[in-house]
Amino acid sequence: MTKTPLIMPDAPFLKEHNEDGQLFSPSAERNLGPIIKQLANHVPAQGTALEIASGTGQHVATLAKRFPRVNWQPSDIALDRLRSIEAWRKTVRLDNLLPALQLNAAGKWDDHLTDLKLIYVVNLFHLISEKDAVAVLKGMSDSLGNDGRVFIYGPFKEHEQYRSEGDARFDSNLTAQDPEIGYKDVAWMWRQMKDSGLGRVEQVEMPANNLSLVSQKIVESPV
Ligand SMILES: C[S@@+](CC[C@H](N)C(=O)[O-])C[C@H]1O[C@@H](n2cnc3c(N)ncnc32)[C@H](O)[C@@H]1O
Repeated sequence: MTKTPLIMPDAPFLKEHNEDGQLFSPSAERNLGPIIKQLANHVPAQGTALEIASGTGQHVATLAKRFPRVNWQPSDIALDRLRSIEAWRKTVRLDNLLPALQLNAAGKWDDHLTDLKLIYVVNLFHLISEKDAVAVLKGMSDSLGNDGRVFIYGPFKEHEQYRSEGDARFDSNLTAQDPEIGYKDVAWMWRQMKDSGLGRVEQVEMPANNLSLVSQKIVESPV
């Protein structure tokens, strides 16, 4: 069964730039600076970085410019977002920004997505169910290279509590639309990552009560 698309609080601000379907999100613009500062510690010297749930494509367009030795692969599940990513790609014209890929990150990942050096995702986990979140983490772990990193950014609960009044309001808006989705507890995220073979590198406090969670593959050392 096809689910009704979520109505996001920032939907009215997702402005269409031009007839190519290029979308602009002010919130994606606001969080990008602090994210790049943290992410810079984890961007590989070279190789492929996959962004899942790329949304408008604003982030990946900037990241490809800022980190030119890495090949950036944007992706999303939604056709209007893929169109917007392509429009951003046309605007920035960078050889290391690959064509947008349609990927349901909770489904089967494309076979060519292997040995990724970075998997980057912003503001997805609160919008999907626990079951889908586990599937996304498994997809990440399977596609990540042994020396790669996973960078997750977004709003989470901590000790099963909201981290602000705004978070509580936002989550109740989401769960009213779909009781299966909503904020995940950060300790739950770390447990699921570990079960998927991803070990904790760091957890960093970000602006507006968001967190970044960085992990890498747990590699068994030979005995
Ligand atoms: C809140 S937006 C975040 C977009 C972007 N990462 C940003 O921060 O601006 C959530 C995005 O997740 C995408 N999405 C939702 N479920 C998905 C799934 N199962 N696989 C891949 N993308 C998904 C939506 O299409 C949307 O573009």
